[in-house]
Amino acid sequence: MTMELTQINQIKMVGVVGAGQMGNGIAQVLAQSDFNVCLMDVSEASLKKAVASIEKSLMKLFEKGKLPEHPPVILGRIKTTTHLADFKDCDFAIEAVSENEELKKSIFKQLDEILPAHAILASNTSSLPITRLASSTRRAGQFIGMHFMNPVPVMQLVEIIRGHATSENTYQVTKSLAEKAEKTTVCSQDYPGFIVNRILMPMINEAFFTLMEGIATPEDIDAGMKLGTNQPMGPLTLADFIGLDTCLAIMKVLHEGLGDSKYRPCPLLKKYVDAGYLGRKTGRGVYSY
Ligand code: 3HC
Repeated sequence: MTMELTQINQIKMVGVVGAGQMGNGIAQVLAQSDFNVCLMDVSEASLKKAVASIEKSLMKLFEKGKLPEHPPVILGRIKTTTHLADFKDCDFAIEAVSENEELKKSIFKQLDEILPAHAILASNTSSLPITRLASSTRRAGQFIGMHFMNPVPVMQLVEIIRGHATSENTYQVTKSLAEKAEKTTVCSQDYPGFIVNRILMPMINEAFFTLMEGIATPEDIDAGMKLGTNQPMGPLTLADFIGLDTCLAIMKVLHEGLGDSKYRPCPLLKKYVDAGYLGRKTGRGVYSY
């Protein structure tokens, strides 16, 4: 008899670890799709902020007629906690904490102990190897990457990453979960940067080289790419939106993992991060906010 979850309708409760921008977006889209969600963070203040941000986003969508239910009904499906032990009845858990491998591994080790044997564990990591994270658990077959894009409520994509041992069944259930949350999925093997960041980050890095070499102003680099290639934001604006520290961390993963000098992080990107210019979140990145 298999202990694995085989059907999407067996998922009654999803646990989300980390109530930052990604975690609260993930909790929101799942609750919008009728799942009960348990959102965990170590800090009460982060949970409070997350709920306020979900409320604001739901109101925006409701006012535009894009929600089938009133925001308080959707919000009612999200419970918050500061204890991972409250995930004991979760059938699926998604980790969305900061990109720190040791932290993620320690969370997965605990989730492996707490969640029922049938449950699937997923990481929203933007670049850490799924196979390596899976090895911190005893259920590598039921371990997968589920990479949401920011801002989660409006971006269509979920990139699904199969680790070395991820079972076909785990992949199918995860794909169904993302689709039930009205996302479109793509499937990537477990190599540095997966699909999206493998292609997006070198473009952003190149925009920093273009700036560093004095080829154009930030405004012209962004306008060139926005108007010339129909991107919603220019690459430097997008870097500020994502966070320059995150962009740099992903470039380092590409450089180390693929070993090709074409992925070397731009020195100007490094300098901004050293200066604490991390983008919108610190009020200063390439641009001031
Ligand atoms: N909740 C609900 N609605 C939201 C929202 C949220 N959190 N954020 C934005 N919206 C809505 C706005 O209300 C607006 O709706 P409307 O068109 O009906 O009025 C719509 O989205 C557009 O927002 P804005 O008018 O404020 O601004 P923009 O037109 O510039 O759109 C954007 C904002 C959707 C963020 C758009 O600029 C965009 O798509 N940018 C690129 C984002 C992107 O590339 N994300 C991926 C980053 S890579 C990543 O996440 C991977 C990671 O690993 C690094």
